[in-house]
Amino acid sequence: MTKQLDLADIQGNIIRAYGRFGFPKGRFFFLRIDDGDRGRAFVGTITKRVTTSVSWGAPPEGVIPRPDAPINIAFTYQGLKALGLPTASLMGFPQEFIMGMKKRKAILGDDGPSDPEHWDKVWAKGEDVHIAMAINGQTMEYVEECYQWVKSQIDASDGGVVLLTGHRGDDGQEDLPFQDASILYDENGQPCAKEHFGYTDGIGDPVFEGQITDEYRVAGRGKLTREGGWARLATGEFLLGHPDEAHEYPPAPVPTLLSRNGTFMVYRKLHQNVACFERLLDAHAGSFPGGRELLAAKLSGRWRDNGAPVVDTPDAASKAAWDQRFAAANKQTQDRMLADFRFDLMGYKCPIGAHIRRINPRGSLEFGEDGAYDTPGALDDRRRILRRGLPYGVVRDRGRDDGNHGVIFMALNTSIERQFEFVQQQWINYANDSKEGSDKDVLLGNHDAACPSKMVIHADPESGQPPYFVNEIPRLVETRGGDYFFIPSMTALRMIAMGKVDPT
Ligand code: HEM
Repeated sequence: MTKQLDLADIQGNIIRAYGRFGFPKGRFFFLRIDDGDRGRAFVGTITKRVTTSVSWGAPPEGVIPRPDAPINIAFTYQGLKALGLPTASLMGFPQEFIMGMKKRKAILGDDGPSDPEHWDKVWAKGEDVHIAMAINGQTMEYVEECYQWVKSQIDASDGGVVLLTGHRGDDGQEDLPFQDASILYDENGQPCAKEHFGYTDGIGDPVFEGQITDEYRVAGRGKLTREGGWARLATGEFLLGHPDEAHEYPPAPVPTLLSRNGTFMVYRKLHQNVACFERLLDAHAGSFPGGRELLAAKLSGRWRDNGAPVVDTPDAASKAAWDQRFAAANKQTQDRMLADFRFDLMGYKCPIGAHIRRINPRGSLEFGEDGAYDTPGALDDRRRILRRGLPYGVVRDRGRDDGNHGVIFMALNTSIERQFEFVQQQWINYANDSKEGSDKDVLLGNHDAACPSKMVIHADPESGQPPYFVNEIPRLVETRGGDYFFIPSMTALRMIAMGKVDPT
């Protein structure tokens, strides 16, 4: 029987990527706590409106009415300290969380234009950010209404809690009090699942034990089994207080009630240099066999227009056939076509350096008993992350990199160090595991003009084609801010609000 989770105890953004559930808008803002008592009272008030993971909508699936604007809350280490958590509990948090994102910049590759000195001003004094609040909404009006309510609670805290300003905005603002985000719209004004480079996004997301989701989504999103099928990942990879893929409880602070059903969130504002990206495609469009769109697909592992996995559609003819089958398929089959695949071992179809292959190698890294690689195992299963972000800003001119547009990237995991940081350091900015030397992820790597990166697109020797080298890759994504947060359970929120966290 599938594991049952206490959904009423788990914040809603852990179980659901709201964007997929009819909440295309988001607002993120950050608070400082200046007074512990009033800060705790504020947390208590907000907790009453925090959205949990309980199913919403019409019965029988729905248990509660669908919210107009889900609210969620999380804390930095400094925030938990300001709220008066006992030292014994604080000391139980992992080192990377205690240090915060800025101090991990060497590990994350946040250098050059991504260095914290260039981040939005709200992050200027790292230790000021104590609380992260997220409001998602069916419309911006709902988001605004909810935000005004939170602001009234901040005012009511009488200086106990302060709203931090300093987010960059679309019109050159430097000091906005919040960061808005939204799904993008196509040229006909229709909502689409794209990000600013033009790729279809939001397809791959781990499915774990106890998560309420359609069973067919496990194929391609769970973990590979030795029998060649798919299974849900262990809950403890994403929720503290549950066994993880090592059959252990992930390290967490005491008391158990403080950590169980909570998790850690990585928040990063990632600016996208769209002009550099377009120029990179233009520079290679003429020489890459297959042209511009196939090249874009090889860089990420999926075609831009509809997310077709390039491993199943490695050329124009197979893509056209795939598109036909996709158009004729029902929703469930379409979902399987998008998610249920494995990589070709040598990377002739999906390059070993493609973004989605680096980040979730689907068993293509490990050496098996018969000497071939492609065996499922811990190397992948312990590096998975839940993605909960949305695009932000508008691209007014695809010929310019400046402006304010990118992805508000949020990764949820029980170990920031083992999961997010490992992926960022070893698989994005380095490629030893995939035997691609020090090549970086084309889309995300901290490419440096002084030491230009490359990506090799291997070709099947039988085709008679040589491998293709994508050279002189500019930095396509720059970090503009972020930090590490703890998303407590509802029980833990109430304990924090009451000042009753007892580690003994
Ligand atoms: C501006 C920044 C980014 C862009 C434009 C981007 C783009 C994409 C695209 C187009 C996909 C394929 C669609 C999908 O499978 O959902 C994808 C998948 C993914 N990305 Fe990124 N990404 C960005 C940042 C990151 C970062 C920072 C990480 C992690 C450190 C990351 C981790 C992933 C993962 C885990 C997947 C799913 C892979 C799978 O399970 O198949 N992405 N990304």
